[in-house]
Formats: sequence, C-alpha cells, structure tokens
Amino acid sequence: MTRRSVILGAGAYLPERVVTNDDLAKQMDTTDEWIVQRTGIRQRHVAAEGEFTSHLAAKASERALAAAGVKANEVDLIVLATTTPDETFPATATRVQAMLDITRGAAFDVQAVCAGFVYALAVADNFIKAGQAETALVIGAETFTRILDWNDRGTAVLFGDGAGAVVLRAAYGDRGVLSTHLHSDGRTHDALYVDGGPSSTGKVGHVRMAGKEVFKHAVSKLAQVIQEALDANGMAAKEIDWLVPHQANRRIIDGMAEKYGLPKEKVVVTVDRHANTSAASVPLALAEAIGDGRIKPGQIVVIEAIGGGLAWGAALVRM
Ligand code: COA
Repeated sequence: MTRRSVILGAGAYLPERVVTNDDLAKQMDTTDEWIVQRTGIRQRHVAAEGEFTSHLAAKASERALAAAGVKANEVDLIVLATTTPDETFPATATRVQAMLDITRGAAFDVQAVCAGFVYALAVADNFIKAGQAETALVIGAETFTRILDWNDRGTAVLFGDGAGAVVLRAAYGDRGVLSTHLHSDGRTHDALYVDGGPSSTGKVGHVRMAGKEVFKHAVSKLAQVIQEALDANGMAAKEIDWLVPHQANRRIIDGMAEKYGLPKEKVVVTVDRHANTSAASVPLALAEAIGDGRIKPGQIVVIEAIGGGLAWGAALVRM
C-alpha cells in the first residue's frame, strides 16, 4: 500500500471588512462594471489595522483542525505559503505555531506568490510520503492589500486578504494527494513582481504587473500543468469531479473549464467574493466546497495556480 497525504479537513478565514467595487470607484478612476466584466470580482476583504497574516492564518488553521477533528498538538509540520509575512523573519509559520500552542515539529514559510499553496502542499506531501511527518498543517495566508499601490488601478482592484488551511495526515490507501506538479520560469520576472525587498531597496515595495502578459501565460501554463497532472495519473478530464482553480480572474477560470470540457457545476468559484488572495485563494475555495458538502470523500479534485516568478503548479487529489 502506498503512503499518502489525506486531506482530513479544511478551514478558511476572511477579515471582517468588505470593500466593494463601488467603494473603490470612490477613490480611483474605475467602475464596478469594468472590474466585473474583466475579472468577475465584486468585492474583497481587507485586514484591519493590527491584523496580520499570522492572525488570519491561525484562525483558518483552528477551523481546519476542528473540521479535521485533529488536536493542535498532533501537528508535527506547518508549511505556510505567503508573500506578505508579518516580518522579514522569522517565518510567519512559527508565529502561527506559537498561536496554536504547538511546541513540536517544524514550521516554515514557502514563497511562490499565488502558486504558494500548491507549492506548500507539494512540500508537505513529500515530507509525509518520505515518512518525515505524520500530520501537517498547510496554510495559504495573505494580507496582500498591504503591498498594493492604491494609485495603480490596474492592480489595486484585483487583490484581497484572507487565509485558508488544510490538515494532511499520513495514511495507506487510495485516498490522498495522488501527485503534485511544480514549475517556474524566472525569465518572466518582469510580468509580475514587487519593486522592493529587504536586500534590494530596503523597502517593502508594491506590486507591478503586465496584466495582458500574465493573462496569456496563465491560460497556457495552467492548461499544460492540468494535462500533466492527468497524464501522470492516467486519467482523462472527464474523470475530474472538481476543479479548484486559483481565484484570480473569472475569465481565466472559465477558459480552463472550457478547455477541459468541465461544466460550471464542477468548478469552484469564489473570486467574486474575495478577489485574488494570492496563496490563500485555493485553500479558501477548497474549504468552502468541502465545508458545504459539494466535495465528497472519494472524489477527484484538481487544483492549480500561477503567480509571480512566474511560478505555477497543480495537484491531483482523491478526497
Ligand atoms: N478600471 C477601469 N479601467 C482600467 C482599470 C480599472 N481598474 N485598470 C485598467 N484600466 C484600463 C487601462 O488603463 C486601459 O485603458 P486604455 O485602453 O485607455 O489604456 C484599459 O482599461 C485596458 O487595459 P488592459 O490592461 O489592456 O485591460 P485587460 O483587458 O488586459 O484587463 C486585467 C486587465 C488586469 C483585468 C487583465 O489583464 C488580467 O486579468 N490579467 C491577469 C491578471 C492576473 O490574474 N494576475 C494575477 C495572476 S496571479
């Protein structure tokens, strides 16, 4: 029997404050119509002053642990994907570890921007498969609005804050993460990056994006990596029960669904309600669809994401 990582439960947390497209239209030259038409986004959540990535992550993690029926002290690995850590160091994962009162195992961050959750899932899955961890908390958490340039309408309207988490447990059988597929191509740096950092400018910096270029890359690279995941498991697209895509843009999501002949009933979409929450987007969508009973044990789920780097990836999971 193969040792695999089974998703025992998922949880999500969104900050209380909601900012609608109309709210943004009062402070910049944009409209609800433009944003909805180009992206499908209607609103985003924004963290309160003093509310950090670790706070959102800890809340999502508590909910994931409760849903999984797992006690915090059973966790021996925390992998947290974020682009907006509380501090340059230590890893935000260690803050979450302390908040959850976990004193064993290892906790560290993974940085792959919007693909971060897929990367973190792959890392944790490999630790579990190698026998180096039994129970892992995999988190995607962001206070992404803190790195936006509110004078740049081309990016400011696209992102939001939030966190999602899943609990993985080692088990022997057919269920669990069946494969993960990671890619990056640093030559495409200029399409999406932050113009600052501790080593370059000493300042945090702001998101810079060539929207059309990112769109083009997203459509082709996500299609390729979904196919790679299907091929690796000898599966056809019609065997996918659920596509849980990165929630960046409704048009990209619809494009993937169409390419693989998936009806909209098989695609989890949350981007309208919380915009692009970067590393948090996939676990937020997963937590919603597991929590409301749409995703059921035994079903085949494909997750995918792409972001700055460019870095992208997919995972195929039997729930
Ligand atoms: N409101 C109103 N108008 C806006 C606007 C906004 N928020 N942002 C840009 N515009 C304007 C532009 O200034 C431009 O005007 P111009 O023609 O007078 O110069 C026009 O709208 C078209 O801009 P363009 O950037 O060509 O639009 P687009 O059709 O490519 O849509 C995105 C822009 C960002 C929605 C689209 O490129 C996209 O979704 N890209 C992928 C982004 C993404 O998902 N990134 C994250 C990946 S992790």
